[in-house]
Amino acid sequence: MTTILQSIRSTPFELQVRKETRFDFSSLNTAIHTEDNVYTSHFFNALSLVAPLTEGMLIRAIRKAQPMLEGSELANDAKAFIGQEAIHTREHRAFNKRLEELGLDAKATLEEMEQGIREIEATKSLQEHLAIVVTGEHIIYSFTRALLASSHHHLEQHDTVRALFIWHALEEMEHQSVCDDIYKHLYGKGAEHRLLYFRTLTSTGNLLGGIVVKLIRSLLAQSREPKKGELREFINWLVRTPGMGTIATKEIIGFFSPRFNHWSRLEEDQKLISIHLKSA
Ligand SMILES: [Fe+2]
Ligand SMILES: [Fe+2]
Repeated sequence: MTTILQSIRSTPFELQVRKETRFDFSSLNTAIHTEDNVYTSHFFNALSLVAPLTEGMLIRAIRKAQPMLEGSELANDAKAFIGQEAIHTREHRAFNKRLEELGLDAKATLEEMEQGIREIEATKSLQEHLAIVVTGEHIIYSFTRALLASSHHHLEQHDTVRALFIWHALEEMEHQSVCDDIYKHLYGKGAEHRLLYFRTLTSTGNLLGGIVVKLIRSLLAQSREPKKGELREFINWLVRTPGMGTIATKEIIGFFSPRFNHWSRLEEDQKLISIHLKSA
């Protein structure tokens, strides 16, 4: 008989692993696929290129925690989380392969990132590793929420690339609280944990931000010369209209509010998920 241990499951529905999701990037003929803007395009390209590495780290941490979740209602969430991230990785690898075929080479920067991740994993405890995962997932959620809640639909982007990012974003929104639930179930919650989250968020953010910037620079060096006004348009998109970076930053800061609750905007989040599920 399986004993159901009390846990802190906050996901308001059962998670689905959409194994059948496949994207065909063969119609993509240029790595400059968004707004004909070299910066905006490489912003998305860099996010995709790092996805298999970051998601690998997330998956390994949750796998290590899985034996301790047996019998709890978080066991299914952990399994579904790993399933969703594994399919994200598979599809981003397909997109990244296409980018390589189109002439982009990111091997050296990605190898450096992989090395950094392996060093972190070798020196951190499972609790610290999970704290990295919780804060990393919140950074990802913050950007994906910005993407779904903003005027992404009005962005001129290659259809399959758009569908990939929308599908990934909505699944990130679906499993936004799974890792935090697992952490709290295993280690508890309170000021000391919030402090660990805060310290971790700073280092995770620096590692991730540094690599994304480095990747964008490297991709720019391999692309056509930027046109007049392109950088201004990209910065405007990031900071002002719709302000992807600004919205995401507010979401990240909100995580440290004592009143923070992943599903405090349940209706809004569910609406964003269902609308985009139809269009992905
Ligand atoms: Fe993901
Ligand atoms: Fe995720």
